[in-house]
Amino acid sequence: MYKNEAIAIVKPLLTRQRFEHTLRVTETAVKLAEIYNVSTEKAEIASIFHDYCKYRSLDEMKRIIQTTYLPKDLLLYHHELWHGPVASLMIEQEYGIGDDEIKAAIYYHTTGRANMSDLELIVFVADYIEPGRSFPGLDEVRDMAEKDIVKTAWMVSRNTINYLMENKNRIYPDTFHAYNDLTRLLNGGNKFGQ
Ligand SMILES: [Fe+2]
Ligand SMILES: [Fe+2]
Repeated sequence: MYKNEAIAIVKPLLTRQRFEHTLRVTETAVKLAEIYNVSTEKAEIASIFHDYCKYRSLDEMKRIIQTTYLPKDLLLYHHELWHGPVASLMIEQEYGIGDDEIKAAIYYHTTGRANMSDLELIVFVADYIEPGRSFPGLDEVRDMAEKDIVKTAWMVSRNTINYLMENKNRIYPDTFHAYNDLTRLLNGGNKFGQ
């Protein structure tokens, strides 16, 4: 699918702000893809669709989680976590986008997970650092993004967990798995889990 076609699909489904966020995530992800030798086409499509299901009704997302292979424990956690997994399924069903790497990047853009591919890391990071965002500690993460994508993703996951804990929110297991795995990589572990 071409970029313009993808943009035309998501635009009417998002608020203006969310659409502009999507464009900024896409631009950021493509830049990172160039730096880290990842397919810019995949970075583009994954980013454009990453919030594709952000505004689906909660009832519909719940139904999709209940009736497909998506893990049912998602329903025990905040509904903010549902739109990624649901979108990874819907882009295939509705637009025939079956690329596993793209689907995973969309699926895990909110939580991360263990053993993320470079494309997953890039979308996970781009969603967090896109230039429209501003909050304490973000500059440090932005500065790292073009130097070390693993270290950057580790910072994102650390900050996210800190934030959730400070706000007394529960934390989905994949968020911890991402943090643990990225910490292992930072300490010299390899991509094969050792
Ligand atoms: Fe999202
Ligand atoms: Fe997003």
